Amino acid sequence: MKSSKEFWDKSAQRYAKSQVRDEASYQKKLAITQGYFQPNWSVLEFGCGTGSTALVHAPHVKEILATDISDKMLEIAAQKARDAGVENVRFQQGTLESLALEAGSFDAVLGLNILHLLENPETAIARVHELLKPGGVFVSSTALVGELMVLWRLLIPAMQAMGLAPFVNRFSRQSLVTMLTNAGFSIDYEWQPGKSSVFLVARK
Ligand SMILES: C[S@@+](CC[C@H](N)C(=O)[O-])C[C@H]1O[C@@H](n2cnc3c(N)ncnc32)[C@H](O)[C@@H]1O
Repeated sequence: MKSSKEFWDKSAQRYAKSQVRDEASYQKKLAITQGYFQPNWSVLEFGCGTGSTALVHAPHVKEILATDISDKMLEIAAQKARDAGVENVRFQQGTLESLALEAGSFDAVLGLNILHLLENPETAIARVHELLKPGGVFVSSTALVGELMVLWRLLIPAMQAMGLAPFVNRFSRQSLVTMLTNAGFSIDYEWQPGKSSVFLVARK
């Protein structure tokens, strides 16, 4: 299997052109997230992809640091920000482990469609907890790969072998909730738009 960065760099152009699969659920997640935001908040989004969500949220907070492992994703994101005239989103390449970020410096952290792509989600969740201010919120939206239709589950290893799918973790909704609570979070909001994904807001 290719490295994660290589895979996502190669996927960036295609990802930028892809459509949101369930627009109503996406809009609901945006609205719930914005319900938490305050105008003076500093927000971190990790695994921001081509930046679409960060750019939508930008007018509702003071600043967003949007990060991703893939420079190619970030090049597209930065161009979109320039085109939209958005000035309070900063893009930076790296992972939660590699970026030098200050503990306790964010009011909210967003991890959207990313936790299931990490080999060590527990480590990432612990780092998110560390980066948040007391009372800060972690908003996540995560695919539950083990709940996907059997055909997809059978296809994934073959696609990975051909470099057409990334590494994926197959944890359940309950394991994710347990990872969050073990890290010190309490679950503030939980919604499953369908069997194979979960949207959670967890509070430090
Ligand atoms: C499925 S896309 C989701 C992008 C965006 N959050 C969204 O919801 O559209 C996953 C993104 O995570 C990034 N990524 C994968 N592994 C990562 C890691 N360890 N740290 C940071 N970003 C990562 C990929 O480059 C890609 O942009």
